Parts: sequence; structure tokens; C-alpha cells
Amino acid sequence: MASARKDNGLLMASLVSRFFKLGSQNMAIDLGTANTLVYVQDRGIVLNEPSVVAIETLNGVKKVKAVGDDAKMMMGKTPDNIEAIRPLRDGVIADIEIAEEMIKHFIRKVHGKKNLFRYPEIVICVPSGSTSVERRAIRDAASNAGASQVYLILEPMAAAIGADMPVTEPVGSMVVDIGGGTTEVAVLSLRGLAYTTSVRVGGDKMDESIVSYVRRHHNLLIGDATAERIKKDYGIAVMPADGIGETIHIKGRDLVNGVPKEITISQANVAEALAEPIGAIVEGVRIALENTAPELAADIVDQGIVLTGGGALIQGLDDYLREETGLPVSVAEDPLSCVALGTGRAMEDPVYRGVLMSA
Ligand SMILES: Nc1ncnc2c1ncn2[C@@H]1O[C@H](COP(=O)(O)OP(=O)(O)OP(=O)(O)O)[C@@H](O)[C@H]1O
Ligand SMILES: [Mg+2]
Repeated sequence: MASARKDNGLLMASLVSRFFKLGSQNMAIDLGTANTLVYVQDRGIVLNEPSVVAIETLNGVKKVKAVGDDAKMMMGKTPDNIEAIRPLRDGVIADIEIAEEMIKHFIRKVHGKKNLFRYPEIVICVPSGSTSVERRAIRDAASNAGASQVYLILEPMAAAIGADMPVTEPVGSMVVDIGGGTTEVAVLSLRGLAYTTSVRVGGDKMDESIVSYVRRHHNLLIGDATAERIKKDYGIAVMPADGIGETIHIKGRDLVNGVPKEITISQANVAEALAEPIGAIVEGVRIALENTAPELAADIVDQGIVLTGGGALIQGLDDYLREETGLPVSVAEDPLSCVALGTGRAMEDPVYRGVLMSA
């Protein structure tokens, strides 16, 4: 089994180098629950937009109205005949047709009018815990969107490469990628994942926790976009030093009399609301550490834990994890871009070729 995999890897490396020499516009895609990023060979990240599609129904016929930034602006504000859809859930495709439309749209946007007949090879990331059916769906979506060849890479591996971690060396390191839908915790060594676990908690769950906190404590209904804004601007992993923190004004609809209303909460309230999802993330890290082989665990004591994904930007999360685990914790330089950067590097740099999987 192990040697078969090795042979496969060698075959893959030669195939990959042959394919990637041909095209000039090969792409790496981070197809995320919240954001999709496209990296073009030799150019870097050229597109970064929300994974949202707005579908309009006119006389029973469905049509794509907007994709990405334009579609996200419509979320929660659409009339009856328009629906803003997020085609991915928990890192995997929940709505195959819409996901394909979205990938097609982004590829077209990146390619422009030129190269219309020359479709690129695409490397696309998949969550480490995804099933073969879910991986096939992602591969098919990229193929149907025009890719001549599709390769897959595991998301935590891409995140680690993007965060400049020593994944090719015989040294254990731990990456925690906190995305919109999931948090992936992985221990890496020698281009492989030595241990991986995925928690279905990420930025979306944090937003939901803020919505339900405000509803429970203030009888005020707020939208997801408002909750996300509060999280990004005031989200904090621990109680503020003075026990209160900043003051936050929130607008929404009063559940008692149905009229729009503004209330005030404190940053400490946000910390309270986020305690549960953040606790689940810490628990995931703890489980991974408990299941890591001793030699690798010893390496992690030196290397520490690196946080990637948008959730890594929650204020104080690194300190909190440091306290809870007793290990060094750092936030990657550009946490929202790590997976796309790593997927792109794996496509370009022969040193990482072994991590690509043929789909
Ligand atoms: N400054 C910030 N503070 C807190 N959260 C943030 C910040 N910026 C972005 N986020 C959150 O990060 C999440 C998006 O992160 P990211 O783009 O890494 O996810 P994704 O890759 O699309 O999702 P997944 O990997 O689960 O499929 C969103 O929930 C967003 O609200
Ligand atoms: Mg991600």
C-alpha cells in the first residue's frame, strides 16, 4: 500500500511537470465556504471574492444575476425573485450546479476574452476530511467549468505551504486553518499529513452565535452580515482587560413590536457570544495534540502552532490558544491568502509536487 502510493507519487510528479509546462494560465483555486481565491501561474493571486451567487427567477426560469462581491452585497436584502446562495457548506459543495456556475464565472473573469479555446490545468483544494464523493464533486465542477486537467491538494497542506511552514522536512509542525465553515487541524511532516481532524466550526458559527446572543439577550433580530461585521470589528477570544471593552451599536428588528431598533452591547458580550465556537476550536486542537505521535509532538513544542484562515484574525485567539496549550502560537502573515498561496506554490514549485493528487 505504502509503496503503491509512492509509485503513484512519482508518476504524478512526471505527469504534473509535463502538464504544467504546456499552459501559461494554469490556475490554483481555493474554493472556500466563505471566499474563493484564484492564483494564476507566475502572477499570484488575481481574484479574491465571496463564494456567493445571486440567482434570479423570471417567469420560472433561473438565471445567474451576480457572483462574488456583487452577490454578497445582496445577501439578506434580496426581493422574492432573487436568492443569494452560498454553494459551499462545511468546505464542500452543497449545490453542485451553482458551484459550477460560480467557478465558471471566476475562471472567465480571470481569463478575460483571450485564451478562450485554451483551457487551463487547475489545482483545487479539498478539505482533508472530505469523502471521495465530495472530492469528485469538486473535481467535476472544475472540469465542467473548463479545466483540461484537475489536481487536488489537501487544504491544511496548502495552508501550511502558504504559511511558509517546513512541510518538506522531517519536522512535525501544526497548522490550524479557521475558515468560514470548518476548522482544520493538521500535523504535517515530509509532505504528508501525519494527523488531521476537522471541526465543523468556523467563522459562520461565530456569526450565528452573535445573532443568537443578541436575540436572546435583547430581543433584537440582526442579519448575518451585521453579525459578521461585529465579529470582524470587535470579535475577541477572551474577556477584554477591563471586563467591558468597546461599546458597540447594533441595528436590527425588535422581536417584540417588530420595528427597527438600535441597541448597545459591549465587547465583553461579544466575547461571551464567541466562547462556545472558540471553545470548540480549542478542543479540536487539544484532540489533535493528544493523537500526535511523540516525536512529532516534541517537534511541535519547538515549532509551535500556526493559525491560518480568516478566523485566525479574531483578536486574542493566538494568546488564548497559547494559554490553553502551553505551546508557541503564531498567526500566519496573510491568513486569508495562505491556502491560495500554498495551492499556487504547490503547482509552481517542483519541491512540493508530491502533495498534488490526480483527481
Ligand atoms: N478580521 C477578521 N476577524 C474575524 N474573522 C474574520 C476576519 N476577517 C475574515 N474573517 C472571517 O473569516 C471567514 C472566512 O475565512 P476564509 O476565507 O479563510 O474561509 P474559507 O476558506 O472561505 O472557508 P473554509 O476554509 O471553511 O471553506 C469568514 O467567516 C469571515 O467572517
Ligand atoms: Mg479555507
